[in-house]
Amino acid sequence: MSDVISQDIDRVLITEEAIEARCRELAAQIEADYDEKHITPFIVGLLKGSVPFMAELIKYFRHPIEIDFMSVSSYAGTDSIGDVKINKDTDLSAKGKNVLIVEDIVDTGRTLAEVRKLFYNKGAEDVKIVSLLDKPDRRIVDIQADYVGFSVPNEFVVGYGLDYNQLYRNLPYIGVLKSEIYE
Ligand code: PRP
Repeated sequence: MSDVISQDIDRVLITEEAIEARCRELAAQIEADYDEKHITPFIVGLLKGSVPFMAELIKYFRHPIEIDFMSVSSYAGTDSIGDVKINKDTDLSAKGKNVLIVEDIVDTGRTLAEVRKLFYNKGAEDVKIVSLLDKPDRRIVDIQADYVGFSVPNEFVVGYGLDYNQLYRNLPYIGVLKSEIYE
């Protein structure tokens, strides 16, 4: 860890290699589930945290998919807030589609609960969720992603899309941020 931003990282929790291997597995599993029903998934990444994970994940699909992005806000500082605001909706219509929401982390679960509801209100046929990380200790809303990359402890994790004050998203691994950075 000799690069500059890595100096703020206490330790690496999940390596780039482990993330790539897990993305391969997840894509194969998801694709098999959709193929069984002859479905073309409408894969929607929630900006911005999902970008590296979504880019890695979709590389391993071997059948047609549609992709889109949506931006919602759920965080103020380091604490979750209740309301979810839509900053950017999907470009394509979700009506009648089998939506797969791509997330970087399920924390309190509020964002996903709201976004899932929203897609059903838009007339989606089905809504599933894939999240790179799951932090079950922080859950407030009873929601589970259908596909999870890794379960993580209740620590301040950054990297591979996850930020602290908009920084560290470009780290190619998931790391625990040094406490002096956010305290
Ligand atoms: C983060 C993260 C999830 C959400 C999880 O998004 O990407 O979308 O919070 O929290 P929850 O389960 O408590 O709702 P954020 O709003 O920080 O946007 P970002 O993806 O741009 O970082």
